[in-house]
Amino acid sequence: MSSVDIPREAWATRIGFIFAAVGSAVGLGNIWRFPFQVGQEGGAAFLVIYLVFIVAVGFPAMLVEFVVGRYTERNPVGALRELGSGAWQYVGWIFIATGFVILSYYSVVAGWTIRYTILGLQDGYLADAGEAEAQFVTLASGLDAIVLHAIFMAAVILIVGMGIQRGIELAVKVLVPAIIVITVGLAIYAATLEGAGDAYAYYLSPEWSVIAENWTSILPAAAGQAFFTLSLGMGVMITYASYLGENRNLAEDGAIVIGLDTAIAFVTGLIVFPILFTAGVDPADPGAGAIFVSLAAAFGDLTFGWLIGAVFFATVAIAALSSAISLMEVVVSYAIDERNLDRMTAAALIGGGMFLLGIPSAYDLVLLDLFDLFADQILLVLGGLLLMILVGWSLSSLAIDELGRGIGDLGSYGTAWIWAVRIPVVLVLFVALVLGVLDYAE
Ligand code: PHE
Ligand code: NA
Repeated sequence: MSSVDIPREAWATRIGFIFAAVGSAVGLGNIWRFPFQVGQEGGAAFLVIYLVFIVAVGFPAMLVEFVVGRYTERNPVGALRELGSGAWQYVGWIFIATGFVILSYYSVVAGWTIRYTILGLQDGYLADAGEAEAQFVTLASGLDAIVLHAIFMAAVILIVGMGIQRGIELAVKVLVPAIIVITVGLAIYAATLEGAGDAYAYYLSPEWSVIAENWTSILPAAAGQAFFTLSLGMGVMITYASYLGENRNLAEDGAIVIGLDTAIAFVTGLIVFPILFTAGVDPADPGAGAIFVSLAAAFGDLTFGWLIGAVFFATVAIAALSSAISLMEVVVSYAIDERNLDRMTAAALIGGGMFLLGIPSAYDLVLLDLFDLFADQILLVLGGLLLMILVGWSLSSLAIDELGRGIGDLGSYGTAWIWAVRIPVVLVLFVALVLGVLDYAE
């Protein structure tokens, strides 16, 4: 029997879709990437630009992906083939490529979080920054890193292979509440630390001059981060919405997903910066290793730091898992819909390919940084930009009708949404793409 004969899978419960979308959104982007972007791009000033982009760009863009998925009930390649003509048909392929690139290195980083959870429980963390850095270099590349990369990828394959209801939905119903509860708990703990006051000042009071001086790097970084953190620009939300059988209020769902993702990123800052300031570690220390070196060193300095650190890194691992599932599901849904593969085979083949592609990143951190930059500032933004142009400019009435299903007559809100997509969203993505390419070429 080919998969065409089987009815398309669907979420079992109302909350299942929201949890899955939140699980996708909340990930390494919030806990690993966000704090080091804030540190690198100048603290609170970056935070403000980022928040503006989340609301003005991320929200309209997420609704576009939702309506495309629910309307077509297809994987992203099939969806774009149905909606686009000519070259537009191939935009879905960019999403597939992006999924491959991102999950390849995302899984390597997720492997580190598992390693650092074990490290805390076994030996504790090293307080000396130099030693912590040397330890990170040893643990983060080479055989150790590859084994953990393999273990993490295997977990993702298993969950995705089990299917929408019995795999993904079940997993996120456990993982997402755990992430929320532990993150809030850690922020309360961090508030009791001695460096909390200085940390809040750094994190929450913007220096506007920083924006004026560095806008060419802050703008693409903030736009890329907004897309990355909301899992936009690579078909995740198209895919997840394609499993919606019912007419829901997608605007409400989008607002919940965005609200929770932003809250978790923000609260992570309330955890990370007090810990760094208390231990006297410089938050501007850049690079992919940031939370592993500086934060681990800070944990090494605190009483019970080994325990707090292990809980922290375990949370990061859980968040990474629920996001990795969605990255793989984009490609797996394509293999099922269009190649008639059965789900478990598809997950194993695709996960195997992603594992191989990740091996270079597990050997060389410079490569990992390049993969991350390429995926985040170029691929995601490019895929997102093309989708927004297509839907905003040539499918607007279809999109408005589809968003209205489950809401009712949108009135002028529908027009406002489409115009937000047409001009500001497209413009921001275009400028971010140009600056991102220039930045990457450097
Ligand atoms: N949103 C995830 C995070 O913040 C990353 C991600 C990007 C997941 C794109 C899926 C698609 O970590
Ligand atoms: Na996120």
